[in-house]
Amino acid sequence: MCGIVGYVGPRQAQGIVVEGLRRMEYRGYDSAGVALVVSGPEGHDGGTTVATAKKAGKLANLEKLIADEPMPAATTGIGHTRWATHGAPNDRNAHPHRGDTGRVAVVHNGIIENFVELRDELERQGHVLLSETDSEIVAHLLEVEVLGGADLTTAMQRVCCRLEGAFTLVAVDGGDPDRVVAARRNSPLVVGIGEGESFLGSDVAAFIEHTREALELGQDQVVTLTRDGVDVTTFAGEPAQGRRFSVDWDLSAAEKDGHDWFMRKEIFEQPRAVADALLGRRSPAGQLQLDEMRLDDDELREIDKIIVIACGTSFYAGMVAKYAIEHWTRTPVEVELASEFRYRDPILTHDTLVVAISQSGETADTLQAIRHARTQGSKVLAICNTNGSTIPRESDAVIYTHAGPEIGVASTKGFLTQLVACYLLALYIAQVKGTRYGDEIDQIMRQLEEIPAHIDTVLAGAEEIYTLAREHVGARSVLFLGRHAGFPVALEGALKLKELAYLHAEGFAAGELKHGPIALIEEGLPVLCVVPPRGRDQLHEKMLSGIQEVRARGARTICLAEAGDDKIAPYADVLIRLPRVPVLLQPLVAVVPLQLFACELATALGHDVDQPRNLAKSVTVE
Ligand code: G6P
Repeated sequence: MCGIVGYVGPRQAQGIVVEGLRRMEYRGYDSAGVALVVSGPEGHDGGTTVATAKKAGKLANLEKLIADEPMPAATTGIGHTRWATHGAPNDRNAHPHRGDTGRVAVVHNGIIENFVELRDELERQGHVLLSETDSEIVAHLLEVEVLGGADLTTAMQRVCCRLEGAFTLVAVDGGDPDRVVAARRNSPLVVGIGEGESFLGSDVAAFIEHTREALELGQDQVVTLTRDGVDVTTFAGEPAQGRRFSVDWDLSAAEKDGHDWFMRKEIFEQPRAVADALLGRRSPAGQLQLDEMRLDDDELREIDKIIVIACGTSFYAGMVAKYAIEHWTRTPVEVELASEFRYRDPILTHDTLVVAISQSGETADTLQAIRHARTQGSKVLAICNTNGSTIPRESDAVIYTHAGPEIGVASTKGFLTQLVACYLLALYIAQVKGTRYGDEIDQIMRQLEEIPAHIDTVLAGAEEIYTLAREHVGARSVLFLGRHAGFPVALEGALKLKELAYLHAEGFAAGELKHGPIALIEEGLPVLCVVPPRGRDQLHEKMLSGIQEVRARGARTICLAEAGDDKIAPYADVLIRLPRVPVLLQPLVAVVPLQLFACELATALGHDVDQPRNLAKSVTVE
């Protein structure tokens, strides 16, 4: 939700900032802008001043503007790509914002909750605010401090003490050409450390092309970047330290690699991502080990209830986790939307484990939920893909999903690797609590280790799914049915279609259909059915009945069923074969055709698959 970049060093800043914004564009694409510290006729103390360029719409619009009206050379710069919260997505509300004299420019990600009071105060003092944003006030407040003699670092510290809400701020001062100052509270910001140059980004993708050495900032910290290095303080000006880490993936992971969309590339990366998520999880003796887990076995043994919290696609991973954890560990599990969690006054004790699932590690709803859980004394375990992000840092334990960077706004490999992490957690608790025998855990681990090959098989049939998707270009509505672990898959299939194809789509538990939603069925309505594997708990038979019921009422049934399932053929207008896997692991293979379907249908409709309208990948506001 808003992407931020910054650079100071010997090289031309504009190209580095714009390239960083390209990699941050997945975070928001309502407008984009840059500010550079340039030498100029209206220069401040050192003969330098701030030049800005900003434009509504995607980054391409800003690039065109800069091409038509080139900006002066500069070696210090900041940039922003916006997901609008306060004020329409137009040129005026685009960042960077400047104070009255134009000396200070600032970009912001987050929401400043007390901006109305601060704006009123500034207006009473005669400042003229040009935009409808909450962000512009910061430029004015910083400028007042700087004009009063403070350096930009001190100005930032003082201003941050006055702000409430969530913010990452990055600022430059036209009178101080080799300095970029940033601050963060509840919003992401990472520093890149190069040789004689420093970078800032909402995440490491902003600067991975230039350095893999990074510094994660803590809560309520201010960082000053100069050519000589970085200096971190608290808002109160006390010295502070960030956490150094090396990024373990390279630039190619953040490139499209010949695919039309990042999403399609990420779908095809899933065999590898799942394999990576499983890597190194077993000791030489075959015991399951979770290295990043910071909860000891005694603490885990005491856990008598688990609450999984998450948003969007991650929430559906949580629904699958419930089936797996309860089945393998007999520990009760609740799954809750993070945005609802703390408002219902949940019952939390020292023996409750809260599992927060978040690809980005920055989702504000999930972050606030874990903070609430911790104040109630519960332990929090994060399942997260992003090293250096806030949610794992604020959790007691973490399982990283190791999917590599996910850039397409709609989550794919992030989801599959979250599922793997959930299975690993379930099996680990089973091992610790002794609710499953070692050889059983071993067998499930081997089944998990076969999944990458199974996903390859599904991907080999991509063309068939693409043809099917293109046949549905005129569809007005699509339903998805599933049972048991197939129910969250149905929900995820529907979400993908809503997000990408802007098509009405609903996922239902197949058994619930007859209690109301069956009234939606009309002649020719496409219904995608995730058929459970044969065998267990009569699930398969019950699903067949559900399929017959919708078909009898005119639905066009598109069935995803395991290879060798002969019973399904008479009821399937279209049959897509899935590899044979146990029911609890079936989401790992069943969701893949649904991802391909949504990606291709959205492409056929002419939509921007990587940047769907109104969405952002990382939602850092509540
Ligand atoms: C946004 C994205 C979704 C994502 C959700 C949760 O809404 O558009 O694709 O599933 O956030 O994100 P998280 O990073 O917490 O998994």
